[in-house]
Amino acid sequence: MSVHSSSPVRVLLALAGMLAAFLLPTGPAHASAPLRTHAAAKGKFIGAALATSPLANETAYRNIAATEFSQVTAENAMKWESTEPSQGQFNFSGADAIVNFATQNNQQVHGHTLVWHNQTPGWVQGLSATAMRSAMQNHISQVVGHYADNPTVVSWDVVNEVFDDSGNLRTSFWYNTLGQSYIADAFRAARAADPDARLCINDYNTEGINAKSTAIYNLVSSLRQQGVPVDCVGFQTHLAIQYGFPNDFQQNLQRFAALGVQVRITELDVRMATPRDATKDATQATYYRNVVNACLAVTACAGVTIWGFTDKYSWVPDTFPGQGAALIYDESYQQKPSYTAVHDALAGGTTTDPTPPTTPGTPSASNVTSNSASLTWTASTDSGGSGLAGYDVYREQGATDQLLGQSTTNSISLTGLSPSTQYQVYVRARDGAGNVSANSALGTFTTTDGPGGGGGCTAAGTVQTQWATGYVIQPVTVTNTGTSGITGWTVTFTLPAGHTLTGSWNATLTVSGQTVTAKNLAYNGNLAPNAGTTFGFQVSRPSGNTQTPSGYTCA
Ligand code: XIL
Repeated sequence: MSVHSSSPVRVLLALAGMLAAFLLPTGPAHASAPLRTHAAAKGKFIGAALATSPLANETAYRNIAATEFSQVTAENAMKWESTEPSQGQFNFSGADAIVNFATQNNQQVHGHTLVWHNQTPGWVQGLSATAMRSAMQNHISQVVGHYADNPTVVSWDVVNEVFDDSGNLRTSFWYNTLGQSYIADAFRAARAADPDARLCINDYNTEGINAKSTAIYNLVSSLRQQGVPVDCVGFQTHLAIQYGFPNDFQQNLQRFAALGVQVRITELDVRMATPRDATKDATQATYYRNVVNACLAVTACAGVTIWGFTDKYSWVPDTFPGQGAALIYDESYQQKPSYTAVHDALAGGTTTDPTPPTTPGTPSASNVTSNSASLTWTASTDSGGSGLAGYDVYREQGATDQLLGQSTTNSISLTGLSPSTQYQVYVRARDGAGNVSANSALGTFTTTDGPGGGGGCTAAGTVQTQWATGYVIQPVTVTNTGTSGITGWTVTFTLPAGHTLTGSWNATLTVSGQTVTAKNLAYNGNLAPNAGTTFGFQVSRPSGNTQTPSGYTCA
């Protein structure tokens, strides 16, 4: 050890330097810093919903939860079924584990949720009005009271999902037993239990301006006018890439902000049909980026909570079969493009491409059939530096335009269209930084009547067995090839001359001349897109005739 390096002055200077590193305000967040560092620099939180079991058992889960996020919501541990499974028996073990983790990691907790129609024990649901009201008030007072003096828990979802998608109050057991007054009562009880906590109303499908978000807007406005303590509105934001991005999200947040409430994104995820691929990942990343940017653009938006963080533990595959990959880390805790999108949006200003691509040309249609069409348009160019990433093709439908498809080139094949329907379509271009061009002019085409009527379904029959004087057709498969569910189907086909129907199953068959009409029964009429069902029938025919039916069509 040299004399120089061990001199008391030198040691003091080194100590002062270390102290300064702790105490002085930090400079701009480093480009590769964790999400929470960038979010803090923007005055926002970035959070995740946490589940108790991996939090207790998996180091990788704990490490990411601790380092990347500044806010935590219990995915299930604070719900009524967890905190008061039987009347008056409170259990805070899971909730406390999450709150303690948050405290250790300097994170804030948003309490989720006090009054909801799901994950609430049966004993609550069967109570009389008087008993239910006092059970609700007691539950709120005990659960909020448990954390009232704990500075980690800063806010609560007091009521969750009180509206249906049409904007009517949901006819839950709460509403059916207590009427609308339970909502105001719940907020008052929460305020009484913790005067410092921020009290929120939370719901889904409310990201865009629509009937449901407008119903919440009106309710919040009227409750606040009556002095009911509603401080904040949560937007769950469970998005899916196949349904399009709610492009008026920021505008919607802004109108709530104008009511004087805080807004927050409470349960963000962006699901897709699995398996994932690079194109879907890129679209998903754009959605994540757009959500973060919407919150950043609205001063009253406190932050964004992602509903989990790893695809290893996401509610999506269990709830939406065939969909998943909705989060920002994959099942092996690797960061996905959606992570980078959230990171870069929070880091802000680091993107050097503020310029959207040029507007694409008007889409023109060719090869139009009953359920498909090809579109081409003049390509966009992108001069901002990040490069053209692709195109989104929309159907113009007024308030909520439908995303028909995406393409990385200036053409697309659309399938699953409805027959005999006029489509007005437009295209917009995206670049690598997520900038979106203006909409192209509208192109118009009309799908034709398919052979036999199209109707978004197809039918095909298979000869299962035959003998000299007859045969069995089994199965006749009926498939919904449209993009929306159908509630009934009619299959027609032609019997060769001299053939007669002798039996059928799983459909009602009527015969007129040689034309047979088969209609669904009550239990097999509903078919989701791509779903199918089957029926069968038996026919007798003149001996030696080898013909079988033909011309199956479905409508
Ligand atoms: C979900 C959880 O993620 C699942 O683990 C649980 O089985 C069901 O609830 N809206 C909400 C959340 O407010 O509480 C829901 O969480 C997802 C939808």
